Amino acid sequence: GERPALVPVQGIPLIRYFAENWPLVEDFQARPDDVVICTYPKSGTTWLSEMLDMIYQDCDAQRCQRAPLHLRVPFLEFAVPDAPTGLETLSQAPPPRLIKTHLPVELLPSSFWRQGCKVLYVSRDPRDVAVSYYHFYRMAPVHPHPGPWPHFLEEFLDGKVSYGSWFTHVKGWWAKAATHPVLCLRYEDMKEAPSQQLNRVLTFLGRTLPPGGATAILAATSFTTMKANPKVNYTALPRTVMDHAVSPFLRKGEVGDWMNLFTVAQAEAFDARYQELMAGVEGPPIHPSPTPGA
Ligand code: A3P
Repeated sequence: GERPALVPVQGIPLIRYFAENWPLVEDFQARPDDVVICTYPKSGTTWLSEMLDMIYQDCDAQRCQRAPLHLRVPFLEFAVPDAPTGLETLSQAPPPRLIKTHLPVELLPSSFWRQGCKVLYVSRDPRDVAVSYYHFYRMAPVHPHPGPWPHFLEEFLDGKVSYGSWFTHVKGWWAKAATHPVLCLRYEDMKEAPSQQLNRVLTFLGRTLPPGGATAILAATSFTTMKANPKVNYTALPRTVMDHAVSPFLRKGEVGDWMNLFTVAQAEAFDARYQELMAGVEGPPIHPSPTPGA
């Protein structure tokens, strides 16, 4: 069927409905205690969102069952026909609000910076991101048709997908972490040592857990538990937004799945582009700088 084309907002291609909603998003008034979860799409947003909600709900999985994740952690720029926007959902949310966004650093509404809000930024191996994004485009008809995989991969490398270039997104946010309270996490680190990364998150947010809290969080946020949890796996959204029969939102949750789809030539071309665009970039800053300029 028909699918809407992407519409550029300040040069960044966005889902058409998101672009139409943009003027309201730009004027969003943040509160100092808002906590922002930001990623390039398909990098671990949902995982970190559930982890943060568990932290703020005193590690009580039952309390996290009270509503689907998109209502507990509203999606700032979200807009589709006939459903509440992210902004509308946020206007009902009690503080401290957990706010999800995929915006590149230049597009984050300026009030977040004025208010000094903490941001948690997750990145993931862009090859796994590209594969995950391809399947997401297939199942979420608010995106244009992805076309065959080789075509989608080219569009991804050229930044012609929703939210633009992975390279620009990641470089922009990693650079921001030098001067603003941005904690940089990596999907691969969360897979390898989730409790260690949970501790980094807690330190950054200045939170402690009740006894048994870490165990409860790791259980509630395992891939298997989240995939089976209708309050987390987005099956509550209308099929016009996501069609899980095409591809489930929680698909594989693995590191290195790119190897199943990339040809050798595609992997080499990807490497070359990565070297070119990420030259001189060391990787995510390890330590947050909670004080601007620190
Ligand atoms: P795959 O498509 O590779 O399976 P986002 O939430 O940013 O849209 O990212 C979605 C990706 O994160 C999907 O990757 C999804 O399966 C994976 N994911 C979601 N929850 C996860 C979890 N608890 N553990 C590991 N991966 C998870």
